[in-house]
Amino acid sequence: MLTLHDSMKLQFKQGQELIFIDRPTGFLNQKSSQGQQGLVEVYSEASGKKLLPVIHTNEIDPRMTGAIVFAENESRKLALAQMFKSGQIKQKFWFLTDRRSQEIKYSLAKPHEILLSRIKRSPFYELWEAETSIASALDLRKYLSELGFPILGDTENGGSQFFHLCLHSLELTIPGEPAFFAPPPRIFERLGVLRDRVLSQWLMSVDTRQRLFHFLSHREQTLRLSHSEDLELRWEALGPVLWGAWYKDQDPSALDLERFEFLAHMIGKEFRVRKMLNRGKDPLSRVDWTSDNCPALWVAQEGQMKFHFESERGLSHGLFLDQRNNRDYIYHHAKNLRVLNLFAYTCGFSLAAALGGAKEVVSVDVSREFLDWGKQNFSLNELAPENYEFFKQDSILFLKGTARRKRQFDIIVCDPPSFARNKEGLFSLEKNLEELLRLCWEVLSDDGLLIFSCNLEKWTQEELEKRIQKMKAFKIVKGPPAVLDYEKAHESRLLKSVFLKKL
Ligand SMILES: C[S@@+](CC[C@H](N)C(=O)[O-])C[C@H]1O[C@@H](n2cnc3c(N)ncnc32)[C@H](O)[C@@H]1O
Repeated sequence: MLTLHDSMKLQFKQGQELIFIDRPTGFLNQKSSQGQQGLVEVYSEASGKKLLPVIHTNEIDPRMTGAIVFAENESRKLALAQMFKSGQIKQKFWFLTDRRSQEIKYSLAKPHEILLSRIKRSPFYELWEAETSIASALDLRKYLSELGFPILGDTENGGSQFFHLCLHSLELTIPGEPAFFAPPPRIFERLGVLRDRVLSQWLMSVDTRQRLFHFLSHREQTLRLSHSEDLELRWEALGPVLWGAWYKDQDPSALDLERFEFLAHMIGKEFRVRKMLNRGKDPLSRVDWTSDNCPALWVAQEGQMKFHFESERGLSHGLFLDQRNNRDYIYHHAKNLRVLNLFAYTCGFSLAAALGGAKEVVSVDVSREFLDWGKQNFSLNELAPENYEFFKQDSILFLKGTARRKRQFDIIVCDPPSFARNKEGLFSLEKNLEELLRLCWEVLSDDGLLIFSCNLEKWTQEELEKRIQKMKAFKIVKGPPAVLDYEKAHESRLLKSVFLKKL
């Protein structure tokens, strides 16, 4: 069976007892002393292997991009480390600098062998290639600085202030392996963009997802393209549409619109930017900015699942992308089971369950409109909505009725909003968490699984787990990892998610 998000798997290249990865910026290499995950742990989980870093973690700055290697066992690690030390492994680096050079080539033999060639220059910046057998990027940075070429953003070594450390490992050649090539960040190829900090940052965010998932080769798919990088504008790829959620009070300026156009053009999509704040104030005020050919209704995919997207039905477009791994889990575990999806919205979890062969799928939401949207999603995936149940009801009332009738489910998905007002009154997660979980417990089969998620900002994952443990009704079991397009492995998560079994 294909994974639902088969096309959005983490990318790496297998070698002999090693893997190559194309490191995105901003990730630690290895677990920190505070327990924050690093790339070694993330790729170990993705590849099912116990990977080991070859170069000491301190030597690779988390801000760098490009080719690195992890060994699959201790002896391969030692052999590779030895090859690095003895200069048998050749590397090509690209770096940016704002220093002007007279020459276009430098060939240096001592103390390190290094060939420097200027690739191009703009009025403010130069792009250089360094071919070397220096193993440590830290040594290279120091060395370049001594030569009068401090790297842009390398303030520790005399470089100018910049939001990014502009050093990229372009190619890594290990004896006995084909050379591993990691494409340069786009800001290295478009030197004209570098003066525009906002646009450069967006391009780096997109670059990160491309290194992780190669998403540009999957044009029909969905992925968050920037998240914690820019809190005022979050980008998502939704098939043909580049969707931006704009969290500023003021409207986008003419310069902003040019930037939207540029970014959309770079990744071959139409853009739609939606203003998220102050919407209620003036009903006639503008809330959407789009490129000329952007559709208002369109279809995009999560793996093989198709979803209708719409710009005019509510604040959101129809799918919360951060639940991708949880939906995938349901798809793989729902066969012949009875599945209940509370706060179903456009029924993404229900669809995953139905496509995964669930015996019963029940979707509950207070909004008729969202449930109708969910039914359209079923039809889009060639599932007849009549074969499944959709209840327009308050989730707590539904659970009470279901418990009275002694109906049970094997998987329950409960992903409530933090607050909601409906005709039954005010739902507040803080106030209603325990009642909600107790009712879920009642309708959950003995060996059933409850997948509970929330986005309440003031709770951390640990806080949520503590509250649940205090109830002494459930035990927490391991669920799938968080999606990496939202939260970097070492950051705290906005989406809190727990997989629960009855105690
Ligand atoms: C956070 S979204 C749920 C997202 C959904 N689980 C998904 O993955 O797409 C909130 C949804 O809960 C619904 N809702 C809000 N209060 C509700 C209530 N008391 N009972 C049932 N649904 C409710 C809203 O209509 C909305 O569709």
